[in-house]
Amino acid sequence: MLMETSVWFPLVFFLVILVVTDTALCNAVPVQAMFVFGDSLIDPGNNNNLKSLASANYLPHGIDFSEGPTGRFCNGGTMADHLSILLGLGLIPAFTNPSTKGSNVLRGVNFASSAAGLLNDTGAPFGDRLSMDRQIVGFREIILPQFKRNIGRETTTEGYLAKSLFFSNMGSNDFLTNYILPTSYEPKLYSVPAYQDHLTQVYTRQLKELYNLGARKFLITGIPPFGCIPFAIVLLNLKDDQCVSKLNDMAMHLNSKVKTMVQQLNKELSGASFLFWDLNNIMTEIIDNPSRYGFKYTNIACCGAGRLNSILLCTEDVPFVCPDRSEYVFWDPFHPSDAFNAIVSEQAYGGKLQDTYPMNVKQLLQL
Ligand SMILES: *[C@@H]1O[C@H](CO)[C@@H](O)[C@H](O)[C@H]1NC(C)=O
Repeated sequence: MLMETSVWFPLVFFLVILVVTDTALCNAVPVQAMFVFGDSLIDPGNNNNLKSLASANYLPHGIDFSEGPTGRFCNGGTMADHLSILLGLGLIPAFTNPSTKGSNVLRGVNFASSAAGLLNDTGAPFGDRLSMDRQIVGFREIILPQFKRNIGRETTTEGYLAKSLFFSNMGSNDFLTNYILPTSYEPKLYSVPAYQDHLTQVYTRQLKELYNLGARKFLITGIPPFGCIPFAIVLLNLKDDQCVSKLNDMAMHLNSKVKTMVQQLNKELSGASFLFWDLNNIMTEIIDNPSRYGFKYTNIACCGAGRLNSILLCTEDVPFVCPDRSEYVFWDPFHPSDAFNAIVSEQAYGGKLQDTYPMNVKQLLQL
């Protein structure tokens, strides 16, 4: 009996291992790294190392995050965090973190910076930040050379980057912290539609530059309905607690121009695949049907105080944090909750085509 067990045990064990690893391999997508460009929706703490008013490296931010308060404007993980975990890459290191060098850059780097936008001037009232152009310069001048030194001999930089995901979420701040801020000069130069065209032209140039540096698989988010952030409602909608439709119209029009840009880039750049992640569509759907997604509150910040918890911003000094955080679409007056980020990231990764266009992230990486 004893003999029998000891003979069979290794075999069974071996078979189990075989089945487990086989399943894991089937589920894993072929992706080497993820490079992230964006704003506070996906900033992992880059502004901690800049002279910026837009930084969040203190509680209650990070209250539900594995690493505590890191500079993420969220109780938990951002969309970039949920996605990179779904891809099996773990958390992607922040560009300005001093330890993001050497072999630490091989799973990718996150350049996203709060208050930043496609334009250099966007977010200026908040102090220093990495505009999209500065994020691309950081990739080209600082990260790529380290990457090439550490990549090993089995693969080429070209091959490695072609199997990496380039995720960009930009554009909201070009309205919120530029166009509609009275401190900005931009409104004097452009009508809203002309400004949107200008933004998409700049964005096109920037994405082509990433392509020229070796990027091939792109995930580009649309512009979320920023008229629904509690801060915008409190600031601009004095009669009720509904989304500010004037702002949502701006977001929607820019969103459709970004989608057209993605279609154009897919035609124009050979060997590249651009995927459009329609955050506007998903966020509107969730705000219109909260209970379908497990939410109760769509226009009240979980952290903050005053009307819609959005008069006093979410800082160490604001005592109120809701206990039932997963029931809130918005964590603070500007940024969605971990629960929201988890749901939409899963949809982008493996969901249907109303969320992403023309395929989902999993399919993009299997191309
Ligand atoms: C940002 O500034 C750099 C350096 O001055 C310039 O080359 C670039 O064109 C500017 N980008 C935008 C979007 O204006």
